[in-house]
Amino acid sequence: MKQEHAIDLRKAAIIGCGFVGSATAFTLMQSKLFSELVLIDVDKARAEGEAMDISHGMPFAAPMKIYAGSYDDIVDADIIIITAGANQKPGETRLELVKKNVAIYKNIIPEIANRRCRGILLIVSNPVDILTLAALKLSGFPENRVIGSGTVLDTARLKNMLGKQLGIDNRGVHAFIVGEHGDSEVAVFSSANVSGIPLEQIYKLRGYEEYESHTKRIYEEVKNSAYEIIERKQATYYGIAMAIKRICECIVRDEHSVLPVSSLMHGQYGISDIVLSMPAVVDAGGVEQILPVSLDEEERARLHASAKALRDVIADIEL
Ligand code: 2OP
Repeated sequence: MKQEHAIDLRKAAIIGCGFVGSATAFTLMQSKLFSELVLIDVDKARAEGEAMDISHGMPFAAPMKIYAGSYDDIVDADIIIITAGANQKPGETRLELVKKNVAIYKNIIPEIANRRCRGILLIVSNPVDILTLAALKLSGFPENRVIGSGTVLDTARLKNMLGKQLGIDNRGVHAFIVGEHGDSEVAVFSSANVSGIPLEQIYKLRGYEEYESHTKRIYEEVKNSAYEIIERKQATYYGIAMAIKRICECIVRDEHSVLPVSSLMHGQYGISDIVLSMPAVVDAGGVEQILPVSLDEEERARLHASAKALRDVIADIEL
């Protein structure tokens, strides 16, 4: 058996240089987290162009190596970020992309697995929960090393909207979106808080009485954010690029931070064998432990409905 490769903690690879891959490369260049970034795309010229353009901003950030490469260049990468695949057209759901993107993953993942990389696979393409499961199965990697960006972005959207509503810095708002990154996602308001003060109470403290209707509206806005953006500018990429940067920080700095990434479930809330988002401790090894957020009865039922929606899609594809 071939040896697994040693990894370089300061090297990342991005597979797929469309809107999301290139915005991610641009964000990571500015983050100073990595000293080497390799960009891979089926359209090599596209990857070259992005590497050239982004590297021209480097004198204003920090020195690093950024270049268009091939799969042989990823063997020692600490994090392999996969953004390749078709993206949603206006009105199209994430789940409708599944057949096209599973087929693309059936080409990409064996390329990675055959090279015995030891890095972490960070799955971003949609539907992210299904593709994370596909990557896990197709790679044979240990499950802690296969992470989906999941609802990290949706959670940021939720915090942003709640913070705006309450007039409070969104970093002090503790709330999660869990389940599918998509139409069946679940906003967990029952345990959301600011400073340990339950959300419903903080609404009152800040002079708002309309807790029920506001939180319902905010949930719909979070869930429909991508549709609204895609309608206006064809794609979403800046928000997700920042979410990816945040996940990379947790890994590179071995932070043990809690993020709602998607990973394989093992009986949390009675859900097993599918990938969805739940808060988890993320460190240098990837997902260290899932920390199931506390849910009320309705949220629990919605989480089960979300798991079922994912299960129905999985039943229809061959992994
Ligand atoms: C987003 O939520 C489309 O999944 C992408 O922005």
